[in-house]
Amino acid sequence: MSNSSRKYLIAGNWKMNKNATEGVELAEDIVSQLGSKTSVGVVVCPPYTALESVGKAISESNIQLGSQNMNPEASGAYTGEISAEMLRSLFVTHAILGHSERRALFHENDAFINKKVLAALANNLRPILCVGETLEERESNKTIDIVSAQIRKGLEGVGEDQAENIVVAYEPVWAIGTGKTATPEMAQEVHAAIRKVLSELLGEEKADKVRILYGGSMKPENAPELLAQPDIDGGLIGGAALTARSFVGIVEAAAELAG
Ligand code: PGA
Repeated sequence: MSNSSRKYLIAGNWKMNKNATEGVELAEDIVSQLGSKTSVGVVVCPPYTALESVGKAISESNIQLGSQNMNPEASGAYTGEISAEMLRSLFVTHAILGHSERRALFHENDAFINKKVLAALANNLRPILCVGETLEERESNKTIDIVSAQIRKGLEGVGEDQAENIVVAYEPVWAIGTGKTATPEMAQEVHAAIRKVLSELLGEEKADKVRILYGGSMKPENAPELLAQPDIDGGLIGGAALTARSFVGIVEAAAELAG
């Protein structure tokens, strides 16, 4: 395995799919197909309404539970929102924050996402901070600048002592749900740039421990090549996380590389 100090992490982002009952069915299928593999970290992120039932379905497995969002405030008049403490009470361990769909459709900016990252860490939740460029930004050669700024702003105020709890996901917006994947070389270039920014923020030793996931049309077929890149430490999977066979196929690809 090229990135030997980091354990692969495969996270499934179910987005607005699966009600509580369907979520349990999918989770049970994943549990039975996965067996007791422990060489790869696995997280499933169902919608809020399925967190409790899916949490129960995976409670005897090594799979962890993640949310797709979180409000940074502790409690109060925030109609429709969910706090970190509410998630913790359902045994959630990870929170996807700053997904490009939330940035684009719900107008979330870096400052708000940063508040969420800090609140998640303060509540013992591991943020999966999502960053990525649009097609227009890539075509005008702004990818590294955009992504670096998203990392700097998203992690503002995060101390070195929290480095091991941070997960970053690089998701080129043009590759999400489109069937277009960044080539392994394109992804590796951005992952390496992200790690460089992380070492400026947290020091090299800590930056080496942060897992940087790739997201954007990852499937069992393209996972081996992507995951073999030195700075790609896992995947954030959308479409392919909605069937047990393809999700487990990606976990198996990571397990193969982990040896
Ligand atoms: P996709 O989604 O795998 O369907 O491209 C990834 C994501 O949005 O996290």
